[in-house]
Amino acid sequence: MGSNLTIKEVMQPLKPVLNLNLKDKAEEKANTIDDKALKEFEEKYRIHPENIKKLDKIGQGSQASVFKSEIRSLKKIIALKEIYIQNNNDLKNLKNELLILQGCEHPNLVAFYGFNIHENRIQVAIEYLDFGKLNYLLQLEGALPEPIVSVIGLQILKGLDYLHSDRKIIHRDLKPSNVLLNTMGDVKISDFGISRQVIGTEGNANTYIGTKLYMSPERLKGGDYQKSADLWSVGLIVFECALGKFPCIDKIREFSLIEDEYREFVMKGNLLDFPKTFSEELKDFIKQCLKPEPAQRGTAKTLLEHPFIKKGENIPKEMFKKWLDCVIQKKLQK
Ligand SMILES: Nc1ncnc2c1ncn2[C@@H]1O[C@H](COP(=O)(O)OP(=O)(O)OP(=O)(O)O)[C@@H](O)[C@H]1O
Ligand SMILES: [Mg+2]
Repeated sequence: MGSNLTIKEVMQPLKPVLNLNLKDKAEEKANTIDDKALKEFEEKYRIHPENIKKLDKIGQGSQASVFKSEIRSLKKIIALKEIYIQNNNDLKNLKNELLILQGCEHPNLVAFYGFNIHENRIQVAIEYLDFGKLNYLLQLEGALPEPIVSVIGLQILKGLDYLHSDRKIIHRDLKPSNVLLNTMGDVKISDFGISRQVIGTEGNANTYIGTKLYMSPERLKGGDYQKSADLWSVGLIVFECALGKFPCIDKIREFSLIEDEYREFVMKGNLLDFPKTFSEELKDFIKQCLKPEPAQRGTAKTLLEHPFIKKGENIPKEMFKKWLDCVIQKKLQK
């Protein structure tokens, strides 16, 4: 990995997350596709373009535009992610990655409904979450109360444990914009389809580049990484929720740390600079996630048993929903 990146660039997603421009990777992957599985998948999940009514644009990512849309036949509101495709290999790779999504069903994962290819774009129909991304909640509220952080952490860990334990998938790009909420009080992980199966694809796992600020030190170094890399990101998300901003962001900005320096900074434990207001449980939870040595980090399963997260289990969903309602009402009154 290059070391001449400024922190400004580190804070941006660096490359299209699907590596669409890496022709050699594209060819390599395209050759490994099971055509029969792909055909069955297409038959089951292809949505006719006329069946999709595009409504407002709700977001823009580094490689996709997202529209609130309706599946006409079902009168169902969905989110439609449009990704530009450059060639047939890209298309095959994308479809292959969508294959991963079909069996992934969990209350804390954004559901996949189907896809469509329209002109030079692939459109992916996914569950619409009407509150939007976690960043939006932080933007509205700043630091969140600890019980709320516990509820959010609990739901993220439940979704992640399913991905890791049941589906053998590393997410690789966990960050607040890939954690979505709805006004029912559900918190769901999105964009896990861009991840690849852990088992048997170790080589591929190390080629992916996502947003660097949430990346674990072993990933910043460009070495091997495993599911534990996702727990580093969970620690940072929980930290950011409780603090209202990314930890040490002012220091990171001030020193314009380049990539290797940022890694050194986190390796030294510099991120673990907690405000006095944090409870012992919260601090311990974050420490369990932000261990520089991946093997020492908790797993999604063990961290679900952590006292900080257990607190979240005692908070009824209805209460979290009401709290979110209040946040929305406050916003509307402004
Ligand atoms: N299922 C969804 N329901 C509601 N809003 C969504 C949904 N999916 C995405 N969005 C909105 O669209 C925006 C763009 O999403 P996208 O996943 O393309 O990019 P991102 O995660 O924000 O950033 P990046 O491309 O760097 O990973 C999100 O930030 C979010 O606000
Ligand atoms: Mg996203």
